[in-house]
Amino acid sequence: MRITVIGCGYVGLVTGACLAEAGHHVVCTDIDGERIAQLQAGGMPIFELHLEEILASTRKAGRISFTPDAGEAIRRSETIFICVGTPPRESGEADLSAIDHVARQIATEARSPKLVIEKSTVPARTGIELRRALTAYTRNADLSFRVASNPEFLREGTAVEDFFHPDRIVVGVEEDSAAAEMREIYRPILEHRFHCPVHNGLCPPGKDAEFLVTTINSAELIKHASNSFLALKISYANVIADLCEKIGADVEQVTHAMGLDPRIGRQFLQAGLGFGGFCFPKDLQAFVYLAAAVGVDFDILKAAERVNKQRIDKFLEKVRKALWVVKGKRLAVLGLAFKANTDDTRFAPALEVVKRLIDEGAHVHASDPEAILKAKAVFPQVHYYEDPYEALREADAALVCTEWECFRKLDWERAGKLMARKLVIDGRNLYSPQRMRELGFEYHSFGRE
Ligand code: UGA
Repeated sequence: MRITVIGCGYVGLVTGACLAEAGHHVVCTDIDGERIAQLQAGGMPIFELHLEEILASTRKAGRISFTPDAGEAIRRSETIFICVGTPPRESGEADLSAIDHVARQIATEARSPKLVIEKSTVPARTGIELRRALTAYTRNADLSFRVASNPEFLREGTAVEDFFHPDRIVVGVEEDSAAAEMREIYRPILEHRFHCPVHNGLCPPGKDAEFLVTTINSAELIKHASNSFLALKISYANVIADLCEKIGADVEQVTHAMGLDPRIGRQFLQAGLGFGGFCFPKDLQAFVYLAAAVGVDFDILKAAERVNKQRIDKFLEKVRKALWVVKGKRLAVLGLAFKANTDDTRFAPALEVVKRLIDEGAHVHASDPEAILKAKAVFPQVHYYEDPYEALREADAALVCTEWECFRKLDWERAGKLMARKLVIDGRNLYSPQRMRELGFEYHSFGRE
């Protein structure tokens, strides 16, 4: 099929590249001309595992192209994915102005009927407004627009794998014809008719994805309800960690045992510095806002948000308690990205930690395998090192902020010889407290004192 993707941010690029890899012909456009020029020249604006190779192979096969001309992109396909940003406003409400702008572009530039698919995360009822806007903005009364919601459940860092091996594909539609078209788009995935770029064609056996057809409102709600539930789960684990500290229990033992119950599940019970990124914090806020707007009490989500914000305070309390005086100390921050396997630092707990340390007069020396460039743009005064051991040299303490595998595998015996003081404050519970103490470290983590 021919498919247009509007918005070449994270979601748009992954969606466009993976759909092209699955055999479709994709044209991508973006309001940011520089980004399009970079993509046209073979550049890669984001770091995501496997994405660069997929873009290279689909470009070579002539199945993906980039244009700054939205009109041309819109006219080239009957099926359009909207993948633009929906950032939070001050109130927590999602800012839908980019969706509105794209609706106007589609309505004025289209010369034939279109199926317009919301891929951006949007509050419930956006699809209905989108269809109304498309009809209102067009000057050609004979043109028809159908709208579908197709929420994405991709995780940064494993987005390509998630795309090709989803648990579920949710499509919210108003007409059977739209559901049939959506199924056609995802047929290669549903029938495993693709060369898997992650497993090089040798995918491990797994459960087949469920293709769920719902109403548009339900599809939109599924996305917010899923992300908010996961965020709630993390905050729950974090409160358990606080309890463990007070009572004298080990949060890893508690959450491990809890997670073995299939009704609870093991994932997203990792206590620590809390969640960040451009999805959970904003989706939680938008969901709370939506619930309040329709008069539904969703205070448990507000509590989850509050608990998450307090993680940074609790981490810094540990830092202050261990160091006594923070001002003037040389501190090695390990990890800047909001989680491992991404260069994304948006709403990263690590950056908030860095900001507060700078405010308190510490000298911050930081390391991250992918996110240094992005962090440098925000905090040019920090000293950055590709090599974590260089960040640790002469440090008064190591502060672990992101769960990168390379940090998990650090040789602390070696690091200990480089540091001015053998002190580690671990915001991600990466190491065994016993092992760290055996190595002569003063070691603090969450819920395991
Ligand atoms: C999240 C969802 O997991 C995806 O399903 C969804 O598609 C995506 O948002 C989105 O809406 O676009 P993502 O933001 O990439 O994906 O990151 P997650 O892997 O979910 O992690 C979010 C944050 O929670 C990270 O800061 C991570 O460090 C933290 N986390 C995660 C914990 O603190 N504890 C855990 O146990 C798990």
